[in-house]
Amino acid sequence: MNDLAEALYTDPAVAQFYDFRGAARPDLAFCRKLAGDCRSVLDLGCGTGELAALLAENRRVVGVDPAAAMLDIARTRPNGGMVDWIEGDARTIRLDNRFDMVLLTGHTFQVFLTEVDQRAVIETVAAHLKPGGRFVFDSRNPDFPGRKTRTKDETRRRFTHPRHGEIEAWNESVFDDATQTLSYRNSYCIRKSSEVHTATARIRYTPKNVIAALLHDSGLKVERWFGDWSGVPFDTTSKEIIPLGRGLSL
Ligand SMILES: C[S@@+](CC[C@H](N)C(=O)[O-])C[C@H]1O[C@@H](n2cnc3c(N)ncnc32)[C@H](O)[C@@H]1O
Repeated sequence: MNDLAEALYTDPAVAQFYDFRGAARPDLAFCRKLAGDCRSVLDLGCGTGELAALLAENRRVVGVDPAAAMLDIARTRPNGGMVDWIEGDARTIRLDNRFDMVLLTGHTFQVFLTEVDQRAVIETVAAHLKPGGRFVFDSRNPDFPGRKTRTKDETRRRFTHPRHGEIEAWNESVFDDATQTLSYRNSYCIRKSSEVHTATARIRYTPKNVIAALLHDSGLKVERWFGDWSGVPFDTTSKEIIPLGRGLSL
């Protein structure tokens, strides 16, 4: 039983809209370049597999996610047949292989709501890196200025879904300062039928110094801290916290 299972990812009726979030994906080009001549990549919390499938053009890629509904979409995307998709939990999974690169993008790190779970997933990264292999992940910076709480009116947008046509989407979120956790609900209305699919989820915001301590404890060495996927250096009010580093070189 995965205690992190969120309907946002596990309910096929909602997961089918994941790839239409309307947000740019600068992480894709960044990670593709970073993967360079890596022969093997492990994508933890790969979701619908956009990045994993892209990277699989030139190397062996394994994508891990506990949500079967997300992996079902991943399998059928272009290049989806070139990735090994594994239904599993990034906190506990142990594969027989080690990889040149291990990554978690799309803020998968933030689905881990406790320090115990964050430690567990970082241990998984460390356990799957070849000596000197690279890791990278992203987490939104809690100190980025502006409200984290959002209303339906602020977030309403429209897009066209290939199967359902015009969709109206919105999300509503509330931030709890005490736990640094954002609770949110994403909703999708299929305009032609007025059918609404909706699901809630939670993510945690973690300060850079806490992430740095967790990485240090796992023996992972950070070489660069980026402030977003354009590759600018991190500063205290950056949008993202992106550590790029290496595993132990034995
Ligand atoms: C925001 S999505 C990011 C997906 C993908 N990496 C991307 O960039 O689009 C977060 C993903 O984390 C997955 N997830 C939730 N719990 C997890 C766990 N215990 N281990 C690995 N992935 C998990 C969800 O199923 C979901 O696919």
